[in-house]
Amino acid sequence: MISGNLSTELTLSKALAFCYGVSGPTYKGFLPLHANNKKVTDIIIEPMSEDDLDGVMEIEEVSFPKCWPRDLMARELMNPVSYPFVMHGTVDDKKQVVGYIVIWIVHGDAHILDLAVAPALRGGGLAKRLISFALRFMVERGTVVVSLEVRRSNEAAIKIYRSFGFNQVYVRDKYYGDEDAIVMSLALTEGLNEEK
Ligand SMILES: CC(C)(COP(=O)(O)OP(=O)(O)OC[C@H]1O[C@@H](n2cnc3c(N)ncnc32)[C@H](O)[C@@H]1OP(=O)(O)O)[C@@H](O)C(=O)NCCC(=O)NCCS
Repeated sequence: MISGNLSTELTLSKALAFCYGVSGPTYKGFLPLHANNKKVTDIIIEPMSEDDLDGVMEIEEVSFPKCWPRDLMARELMNPVSYPFVMHGTVDDKKQVVGYIVIWIVHGDAHILDLAVAPALRGGGLAKRLISFALRFMVERGTVVVSLEVRRSNEAAIKIYRSFGFNQVYVRDKYYGDEDAIVMSLALTEGLNEEK
């Protein structure tokens, strides 16, 4: 049984609409969030498409010291083991990309490769919703374990992952060239602690 915040988040996600549309799983019905005095409404998570790349790259380029180039992100849209999801929301009456997550699933093993939220909208819980969605998606696809790398200095991300039950497994020296990566993982083998 998965404990703590993960359980709460997944229970919440079950109560919302997790449905499979023509283009894949879509997750909607979120309550609005407030981030940095901005109200984010009409939040929806859906498979990333070509149309999202401008908005995604705008966030990617300001979020990482070494960001993914656009062509790499575009290739993820066609990679059969990759599941790139985008979160849209309405801010100041304008629909925009507010965040995204890219995961791979191979034979029951999942990996979170990329995750970011628009800088102006951080601290409001958007990343938690993306991770919650991704974990539920992984479980639905029979994932046994999920892992990720995170920069040693990225306290915000490490704190979020820990809150979902991820633990540090080992350190990859100079994984990013200029910095070590903490490798974290979470077992999803015991099912979800969801209300009937
Ligand atoms: C990491 C990131 C995705 C978090 O997005 P976010 O929407 O701000 O995160 P949330 O609002 O969902 O925060 C969830 C938790 O993380 C914590 N957190 C968020 N930002 C934090 C910060 N700057 N410092 C410390 N803790 C922080 C909060 O305490 C929050 O927990 P709480 O709800 O119990 O208070 C965002 O900062 C980002 O895009 N960073 C750049 C890209 C990146 O580092 N990606 C992760 C790569 S592994």
